[in-house]
Amino acid sequence: MAKVTKAVIPAAGLGTRFLPATKAMPKEMLPVVDKPAIQYVVEEAVDAGLHDVLMITGRNKNALENHFDRATEIEASLQKKGDTDRLEKVNYSTELADMHYVRQGDPKGLGHAVLRAKMHVGEAPFAVLLGDDIIDARDVLLKRMLQVQAERNATVVALLEVDPDQIHMYGAAAVETTDEDDVVRVTGLVEKPNKDVAPSNLAIIGRYVLRPEVFEILEHTKPGKGGEIQLTDALEEMAGDVEGTGGVYGVIFRGRRYDTGDRLDYIKAIVQLAVDREDLGVGLRPWLREFAAGLESNTPSGDVD
Ligand code: G1P
Repeated sequence: MAKVTKAVIPAAGLGTRFLPATKAMPKEMLPVVDKPAIQYVVEEAVDAGLHDVLMITGRNKNALENHFDRATEIEASLQKKGDTDRLEKVNYSTELADMHYVRQGDPKGLGHAVLRAKMHVGEAPFAVLLGDDIIDARDVLLKRMLQVQAERNATVVALLEVDPDQIHMYGAAAVETTDEDDVVRVTGLVEKPNKDVAPSNLAIIGRYVLRPEVFEILEHTKPGKGGEIQLTDALEEMAGDVEGTGGVYGVIFRGRRYDTGDRLDYIKAIVQLAVDREDLGVGLRPWLREFAAGLESNTPSGDVD
């Protein structure tokens, strides 16, 4: 089977959890420290060797296209000032990848968004990266998934062990072990199950390497959880190895992952990433310690003597 060269990034969601910040701006543009969340995801794809990136967008997503395009006015002004550092940062996202865009149209779910990539992807396997998950660039995930895909000629999902109380927020996998410690065979998948019926606490995080047969399956996948066409349901069908599509494998991720899809986790992600940054960590760490100590010693309001 052909080598993976393309990455698909669904980015058509309305970002309702972040209103009003996302009223006139895509949630993918929310800054995580000093880069929009989406840039981390595109950088991850490129770092894994996938330079051809297709974004599935929708209305009000123009800022995404602008971010990965030239900004001549800003460039000219920085050039005039001789601010080469900032100019480099501005140009970086322009030159990062070969960007393509298609609109989803009706918001019918993640499976439907992925199906919109069919024409662009063609007959080769491809990666899907969801923008709400940021994988720490120091930890390897996508490259490992591509390796497993090539070895097993199968479909591969990223799995993360989560607290059983959280599994209802994810696709959950039933798995069998393989001869590799970080690889499991997926025997079944359920989208956002209740804790008591979940097949395991292994959650799909937003990274997939899919065989192109997924498109035919998505074409007949019926609306599932939430009335949406779920990618998880199509993969559940593939896990049964329909028509020799190689089945589904999971790569267990044990590295650092940041969730930017939820307000509290978004704040945590910014703090975690900033603390580790050379330019910001030095100032942030001592301040955080002091701030946390202040929280410890504070008497809860209403409890004051
Ligand atoms: C989607 C998928 C789900 C997966 C999750 C990972 O859900 O449907 O299977 O576990 O992404 O972030 P969403 O978070 O878009 O509701």
